Amino acid sequence: MAQTVDHLDVAAARDRFSVLKSGFLFFDAPGGSQVPDEVGEAVARAMREASANLGAVYETSRRVGRILEQAEFRAARFLGCEPHEVIFGANMTSLDFMLSRTAARAFQAGDEILVSALDHDGGVAPWLELARDRDLVVRTVELREDTSLDYEDLESKLSERTRVVAFAWASNAVGTVVDARRVCELARRAGALAWIDAVHYAAHRPIDVRAIGADVLICSPYKFCGPHLGVAHGRAEVIEQWRPYKARPAPSTPLGRRFETGTPPFELLAGLGAAIDYLDSIGGFELIMPYERSLGERFLAGISDAVSVYGLPGMDGRVPTFLVNVAGVPAAEVATRLAEQRMAVWAHDSWYSLGLVGRLGYEDQAVRIGFIHYNTVDEVDQLVAALNRLA
Ligand SMILES: Cc1ncc(COP(=O)(O)O)c(C=O)c1O
Repeated sequence: MAQTVDHLDVAAARDRFSVLKSGFLFFDAPGGSQVPDEVGEAVARAMREASANLGAVYETSRRVGRILEQAEFRAARFLGCEPHEVIFGANMTSLDFMLSRTAARAFQAGDEILVSALDHDGGVAPWLELARDRDLVVRTVELREDTSLDYEDLESKLSERTRVVAFAWASNAVGTVVDARRVCELARRAGALAWIDAVHYAAHRPIDVRAIGADVLICSPYKFCGPHLGVAHGRAEVIEQWRPYKARPAPSTPLGRRFETGTPPFELLAGLGAAIDYLDSIGGFELIMPYERSLGERFLAGISDAVSVYGLPGMDGRVPTFLVNVAGVPAAEVATRLAEQRMAVWAHDSWYSLGLVGRLGYEDQAVRIGFIHYNTVDEVDQLVAALNRLA
């Protein structure tokens, strides 16, 4: 009888990362996760065995064709869409600039875009720049005191002029998760596109674009154990209306490829497939979610009163990413002292979440700590002890 595994085997997962044997403790997954060896091997194999372009009749060209198809197939499985609804690009920010401009070919001066105060600027700047070029209006949806999205404010800002509701599904700075289904439904009722930045979310929870009703969703595999790349979903009924920016002889099918420019990074796409297979092989998000939640709960229970957390007080409504203030110790010093103890955390002025800077008012007092499934309970305990000592 097949055995049902009901918990994440962290030791077995870690065994697949040579980098985790170095003794360094990585708590900066939000800046980019570590990568299992099999992903690097898939990239190297593609470079050794499949360096060619698409569409020729010889073997290596057929191989890159298969790599691209496999990557579309796996990305579709990861996102809950069809392979022809997948669009690859350099990273989330590039895809967002490109897709926003493509969508906006049909917009009129005075049309409105909503973004949120929780967003990373990769999901905001494309609209602000577009608004400058095309006389559009960008409005920001507010947050409640605890950094959760203010859904009433969102509703009040929707109008018949709203063309897009763009939002980060999870904050890369404070870890707060947005009720994406609710936002997509509000957008749909207003006749606007629901446009999701899932970069931070994708490392921690499963995505099903159909279930939540997303029109566009973009993520970055380097946050979930894959290579530096961007992956987007565009709902077929929406993107087939768009006129793509593309070189004229490039084929128009499958649909998603219309929006890709130039030659794809086949070796990285091979790595993407390996990263998605890796996540599935360790049990997927069904096992990852409760484990990461337990790491977060342990962290919150262990830190002393001198280590305060911005945003939500517990693990409900958040992923295990924390913006913390160690009383009396500047953030840069916290990060440096932890690095001396071989622990990686990031002190930055905003983590590109510009909307949060003024609202939280942390100035130079915040350090970001981000756990991911390969972190262990023992690592969390070591970090907690180091932070409490610093305070
Ligand atoms: C929530 C969020 N959105 C967007 C981005 C930008 O992603 P990329 O580096 O793929 O452009 C990041 C990167 O950290 C992020 O965390």
